[in-house]
Amino acid sequence: MAKKQKKAAKPAKKAAKPARKVAKQAAKKAAAAKKVVKLVAKKNAARQNGDALPKPSSKPFGQAGRALDGVRILDFTHVQSGPTCTQLLAYMGADVIKVERPGVGDITRGQLRDVPNADSLYFTMLNGNKRSITIDSKHQKGREILDRLIKQCDVLVENFAPGALDRMGLTWEHIHKLNPRMIVASVKGFGPGPYEDCKVYENVAQCAGGSASTTGFREGPPLVTGAQIGDSGTGLHLALGITAALYQRIRTGRGQKVLCAMQDGVLNLARVKLRDQQRLAHGPLKEYSQFGEGVPFGKAVPRAGNDSGGGQPGWILKCKGWEEDPDAYIYFITQAPVWGAICDLIGKSEWKTDPDYATPNARLPRLKHIFATIEQWTMTLSKFEVMEKCNALDIPVGPILSMKEIAEEPSLRATGTVVEVDHPTRGKYLTVGNPIKLSDSPCEVKRSPLLGEHTDEILKDVLGYSAAEVAEIKGSGAITPQDKSARAEAA
Ligand code: COA
Repeated sequence: MAKKQKKAAKPAKKAAKPARKVAKQAAKKAAAAKKVVKLVAKKNAARQNGDALPKPSSKPFGQAGRALDGVRILDFTHVQSGPTCTQLLAYMGADVIKVERPGVGDITRGQLRDVPNADSLYFTMLNGNKRSITIDSKHQKGREILDRLIKQCDVLVENFAPGALDRMGLTWEHIHKLNPRMIVASVKGFGPGPYEDCKVYENVAQCAGGSASTTGFREGPPLVTGAQIGDSGTGLHLALGITAALYQRIRTGRGQKVLCAMQDGVLNLARVKLRDQQRLAHGPLKEYSQFGEGVPFGKAVPRAGNDSGGGQPGWILKCKGWEEDPDAYIYFITQAPVWGAICDLIGKSEWKTDPDYATPNARLPRLKHIFATIEQWTMTLSKFEVMEKCNALDIPVGPILSMKEIAEEPSLRATGTVVEVDHPTRGKYLTVGNPIKLSDSPCEVKRSPLLGEHTDEILKDVLGYSAAEVAEIKGSGAITPQDKSARAEAA
């Protein structure tokens, strides 16, 4: 019997073996899954705390240095687009070393001069917080100094005409070999394509980027804007590209090329017009006043005068004193949610229920008449009085401020957006401070440097040349103005 039982238990034991195996495997799987959950939790916790970041500083905000402290920039920029970028990086704490041609410097030092023999406002307002060194990049010794600078800097920024940097011998390959961590950032007029070799200035970019064809009045020619969206706009794009590349470098350990074409930068700022170009295929652009005027649309987005670029119709209206003051105007937006308040304010309460005026769609064909009626009211008040009355009712309006009013506006001085600085040769001048306010990175705006003001200190302190070597460099003509024959000999 016991034998029989044993015999019978054998197959049961056999069956129990795979069952144990399955249980073992399941336990193994569960343990592995637990491990994964633990790992993910650990990773998430690390991410939440800022992977590999130091402990949050206990210093009061504004006393823990500046955002770009420790970043050194070899600034090979000139005119406006590049200098806008590097000035902003300097405002945020980067050590910006501006390399200029001996005896000449950035061409803007002498352009649009208002004070004889002093650096122009064109230059001083774009080169604050930088150091200046003069180096002839076509002189053999000058190239040696530049190579040394490349090794000591994190970013090279340039906006020369296409090919100029290569002609100096500073190709990407050369720079990357000397310093694989260096980021090389460039502004060019156009990206790769048929126009890539062209030199470009502000207004060329405004025209090629779609801004000019969509700016101005329908009846008039294309118009360029006063805001320097091609130069300063592209400089801002480049600054963002550089900071992103600096961040990526923390992970990869290597630099990269950053390119901003001015045409691309302008198009990015004019993107709402590319939006409208595509909407045009599906019917007229009803928020453009030409729709209300019954003027048919063509194949491309038209100029829209002072129409608002968004979904809330707006226009520039005259205010009291407009006959003498060219800036006595206000931008008035007939935002739908406050339409009732607008009607009451201008004495047209009946429009609130009139089916021709009560809804945004009903108003679209009548915008010209509506704005003319509102203007009858705005013309009885100064632009600041209109602002006060409308703001109290949440009606969005904006006074047309002259540059004189902006220069004198106390609140812009208080925030550091408009700053007065003192300059040794031109005296006090106003500049635009950092428009980007960082709560833990204070910005102290400093005057622009004189040509070559920091040459000696950079040669000694940044590049480690001895006093004897500096004297030798001075004698070589690499950092001082030279006549052409001497330069040809040295090259
Ligand atoms: N030492 C010796 N030579 C120097 C030098 C230095 N420190 N710094 C500049 N140069 C030389 C360059 O090597 C170049 O010489 P090359 O043409 O013989 O190679 C020369 O100075 C002039 O450079 P370039 O950029 O061609 O200046 P430009 O005055 O003729 O053109 C722009 C100006 C703005 C049209 C042109 O630089 C450009 O298209 N830049 C890109 C787009 C841009 O930024 N435009 C907006 C400017 S706000």
